[in-house]
Amino acid sequence: MADSRGKFVSFEGNEGCGKSTQIALLTDRLRTTGRDVIALREPGGTGLGEALRDILKTPKEGVEIDPVSELLLMNASRAQLVRQVIEPELARGSIVLVDRFFDSTVVYQGYGRGLDLALVRKTIEVAVGVTIPDLTLLLKVPLHVSESRRASRAQTSGPERDRFEEAERAFFERIERGYDAIADESSGRVKVIDATRDIDAVHRAIWSEVSGCLQ
Ligand code: TMP
Repeated sequence: MADSRGKFVSFEGNEGCGKSTQIALLTDRLRTTGRDVIALREPGGTGLGEALRDILKTPKEGVEIDPVSELLLMNASRAQLVRQVIEPELARGSIVLVDRFFDSTVVYQGYGRGLDLALVRKTIEVAVGVTIPDLTLLLKVPLHVSESRRASRAQTSGPERDRFEEAERAFFERIERGYDAIADESSGRVKVIDATRDIDAVHRAIWSEVSGCLQ
């Protein structure tokens, strides 16, 4: 397979939807088939991206981030990830899994922060060019499930919240609406997975979509 282009799969969903667990399970299973797999996250995945991730996620005294700055920083991380890692890996035939990609920007900066969607899409285009996922898995849990999973996570890992988790409930309601809109508009690329089920059932649903995409 080394001489054919790889596959690009992104994962989306609100906080506590179980993306990280599912990406780890899928990575292991794909590796058992002998494929080269790389799992990445956004913002992050490169030296620059991880530095931007810290700025974007960790609240810092005296550091304000305007929504337009947030949009540009997310896409600076993405531009670097696409050029430094995603495109070279796809060119060598790898399966590239990314925890969030441009749909997160449409949903969080567009629907969530209220930036003009045309501006958001134009900025994304600069960052990604023609590098678009072959498949996007949208792990869907209702807002109250996301909230209770976040609350139980806070009990084990401490009460500190990142800059996004600090947002009010209305923000997360807009995120939910944004993801529904994307699932409707891009139903060819975006597959909705009911992530309220147990981990194995969600993994089976994901595997069925991914193995279809790999054929
Ligand atoms: P996570 O890795 O825990 O999902 O955290 C990433 C946070 O960044 C999450 O709250 C969603 C947010 N985000 C955006 O607002 N825009 C983006 O483009 C991306 C990739 C993430």
